[in-house]
Order: sequence, then C-alpha cells, then structure tokens
Amino acid sequence: SGAKKEQWGTRVGLVLAVAGNAVGLGNFLRFPAQAAQNGGGAFLVPYLISFVLMGLPLLWVEWAIGRHGGQYGHHSAPGMFARLGRSRWLKYVGVFGLFTNLTVAAYYCYIESWTLAYVWHSLRGTFTAVSPTTFFPEYLGTTQDDIAAIPWEATGFFLVTLALNVWLLSRGLVRGVELAAKIGMPLLLGFGAVLAIRGLLLGPGDPGVIESPLVGLNFVWEPQAAGLFNPSTWLAAAGQIFFTLSVGMGSIHCYAAYLRERDDIALNATTAGTVNEFVEVILGGSILIPIATAYLGLAAVQAATAGGSGFDLGFLTLPTLFNEWGWFGPVAGAMWFGLLFFAGITSSLAMGQPVLAFLQDEFKVRREWAALGFGLATLLLGALVVILYPGGSFGEFDFWTGTFSLIVFALAEVLIFGWIFGIDRGWAELNRGADLRLPGFYKYVIKYVTPLFILVVLVGAMVNPSGSWGEAVSQLFSTGSWPLAAESVLGKVLHVGETGGYFDATGKITPMF
Ligand code: PHE
Ligand code: NA
Repeated sequence: SGAKKEQWGTRVGLVLAVAGNAVGLGNFLRFPAQAAQNGGGAFLVPYLISFVLMGLPLLWVEWAIGRHGGQYGHHSAPGMFARLGRSRWLKYVGVFGLFTNLTVAAYYCYIESWTLAYVWHSLRGTFTAVSPTTFFPEYLGTTQDDIAAIPWEATGFFLVTLALNVWLLSRGLVRGVELAAKIGMPLLLGFGAVLAIRGLLLGPGDPGVIESPLVGLNFVWEPQAAGLFNPSTWLAAAGQIFFTLSVGMGSIHCYAAYLRERDDIALNATTAGTVNEFVEVILGGSILIPIATAYLGLAAVQAATAGGSGFDLGFLTLPTLFNEWGWFGPVAGAMWFGLLFFAGITSSLAMGQPVLAFLQDEFKVRREWAALGFGLATLLLGALVVILYPGGSFGEFDFWTGTFSLIVFALAEVLIFGWIFGIDRGWAELNRGADLRLPGFYKYVIKYVTPLFILVVLVGAMVNPSGSWGEAVSQLFSTGSWPLAAESVLGKVLHVGETGGYFDATGKITPMF
C-alpha cells in the first residue's frame, strides 16, 4: 500500500504507551472496590495467581499475535486472526474482539469525562461549597424527575473528552498516543505518589481521623487463604486481571502490531504487565481505601463498595474527605481526578486505536476520518448506554462487555494460538528478538493450563450457585436441581429473578421468591 507504515517512535515511548494502555480507571477505582468487596487480602491470592497463570500468558500471546499480524499490514484483530490459520471463521473471532473496544469505550469515555469535570470543580473549590454527595447525582442528571432531561454539563464534558480523544488519535501513533502517554504517565505517577504519601501520613492528630490508614492498607495487602476456596472470589479476581491488563479485547494486539518484526515482545509485555500490577496493587491500593478508612473506618468503606465499581468512594467520599485538608484540599482533588483523567485517556486511546486501524487497513479510510468515526460511534453508543443505565449504573453493561466478553475472547484466542497456529510456531514467534528469556514451562502453561483455567472460570461464572457450591452440589444429587445465583451468567440470561432460582433436569426454571 502507498501509506507509510506507522511505527512507535522510541522504546521509552512504546513502554509508556503500553503501560498507559493497561493503567486505567481499573487500577484506581475498580481494583480497590473489587478488593474491598471480596474481602481484601482474601481477594489478593486468587488475583495474583490469576496474573501469573492467565494474565502474563495472555499478554505474551496477544503481543505475539499482534506483531505477527502487523507484518502483514493488519493492526486490528480481524485481519491478524485471519493470519493464524486457514479457517474463514478466525476473522469473525477477531471482529468480536474489535467490537468490545467500542462497547467498553462507550461508558469508559463517559466516566473519563466525569474526572475531567471534577478536576475543574476541585480547582474552583466547588466541593467546599456543595457536598459532593449532592453534586454527583445533580451532575449526572439523576435528580431530575423528567427522564428525558439532558444533563448539559455532563454532556458538555463528554463531548470535550471525545473531541480530545479524536484529536489525539487523528495526529497519528507517535504524535498522539505516544505523546499523551509521555505527558500523562509521569504526571499520573507523581500525583499518585503525593496522594499516597499524604494519605498514609494521616494520624490521630489530624481532625476527623478515627483510624490509622494502615488498617486500610493492611486490609488490602495482607494475603488471606480464605479466598482460595471461594469460586466467586476467583471470578472477581480473574475478571479484574483481564480488565486491568486490557487483555481479551484486541487492544494489546493493536499496539504490538506497530512493532518491527524483530523487536522484542517478551520483555516489553512482561514490563507493561508488571508496571500495571505495581500501579494497581501498590499505588491503587494506597490511596482510596487507606484514606477512606482513616476517616470512616473499614466497615463503612466496605459498605461503600457494594456495587464493586468504586464510583461512590471515588466521586463522593474522597472529595468530601479532601475538605479536611485545608488549602491542600482542592489541590489534592485536582491531583486525584487529574490522575484518573490521565489513566483514563491513555486507556481510551487504546480502545480507539484498534477501531481506527481497522478502518484504515481494511477500508483504506484516512486516519482523520477514522478517528472521527470512532468518536461518533462512541458518542452514539455512549448516549445509548447513558440512557439505558442512568446515573452511572453501568454494572450490568460492564459485566457483559467489560468482563464476560473478555473472558470468552481470551479463551478463543489462547486456543487458536496454542492449537491452530500451533504452540511450537507460537513459542518461536514469542521468543524472536526477545530481550528476556521466558521460562520454558510457560509453553505448556499457554497450551494447557491457561485455557483450562479460563474455561473453569467461565463455567463457574455461568452456573455460579446462589448458596455455597457444596450446598448446590448436594442439592443437585438429592433433588436434581441446581440453585442459580441471580448474578450468574445463566441466571442473568434466564432471568431467574432478583433472588436467584432453581434450574432442574427438565430445563425448567423456578424463580426463587
Ligand atoms: N486496562 C484498562 C484499565 O485498567 C482498561 C482497558 C481495557 C484499556 C481494554 C484498554 C483496553 O482501566
Ligand atoms: Na489496568
């Protein structure tokens, strides 16, 4: 083709861009909430095991598929998956992986736009005058009775955020994505360090403090074996690993496709994954939970994470608590939401780039138009999501597009890589030009352990029982029916109702009242 092939500018730029891809709202809002909701240190053990047995192998697989596809001029999943074997359907697996970028971007960019609005309002001192608890629902327009009323300010910030994404994407990989990461990532780390240190120094002498922040830290970090035996904790942990590493979406593949044939992937992928985990567990674990615990106590913090999203803690609780910090309060607010904004935009660009690349590679659309196409699609889909899930109650949507889809796609790709492309070819591809020697046993992990692990998680998510697994199994043997939890995949699909239902051998569903 006539178009000049795009490539990453520098290795530093590449590392920052791929770290920016992974490090996102998931690290600072989703992780603390998921951890708190699933018992803190009890969550950590399945989480770290999931990282080693699913996260890392999937990262390597995605980088390998991506760089391989890039050599044939494909920078998005459909084209590169078609290159992994002869079957026609491979391409459609890729299409699925492309589509999730758009569906996740639809609500992700909206949340990203809240953080921008909150930087502005923190600096203006809005939260010293209006309680964030009042402000948030008003901002989102959920206090208005009229369902058709449009929250103008939120819409405005959403448009500005989308415009910024479109503008950066339209500038090309180096002048857009790489530039945003070079500016955003250092600031994010700096803001995060300041907030973590200030928070951890809170003590009994500070007004309003009722507990040591270390209690919160301990809660998140002290490993507890209990989680090992709870399949729901495993589901949550695995889901978080997928989301936070950006695997299972076709986004990593896209960034890897802009490498040269002999550029290292083993070390780059491992570094990016490790940086994400460091930022998530160390930095993400040191801000939201410890600060909130210091002022409110652990029980209240856990109660505030009930939905697992971290919105309440992040947008209501924290800005309220910053008011205790005097003149530094507005600065801390701007740093917290600024950090979230940089985390968000370097990730939403990573959802946009594959869509852009797809339009450019496969339909020869000019970059600027492709960027605009992504912006418009996100706007329309975003508007739909906001109407369907008012007030930021995206939990259900996030489950299907941001967790379930990723697990299904990841299972498909790791099987395609290990069994259709072939693990020997795959392993060679992975190690070509490598600056890091990967442990040889990972060849078998990728072929057998990772797919099996994902399959178990997937089946667990499908049939997650309402009570304990032990009770469910004994019920299966005694009555031939299986108690489905409302939040299990089958439970959702079959509408078993709020409290779960029974699924018996005849296929009959009995809602549980
Ligand atoms: N990993 C990002 C986060 O933690 C989210 C993301 C998913 C980004 C998929 C890009 C692609 O917030
Ligand atoms: Na992340």
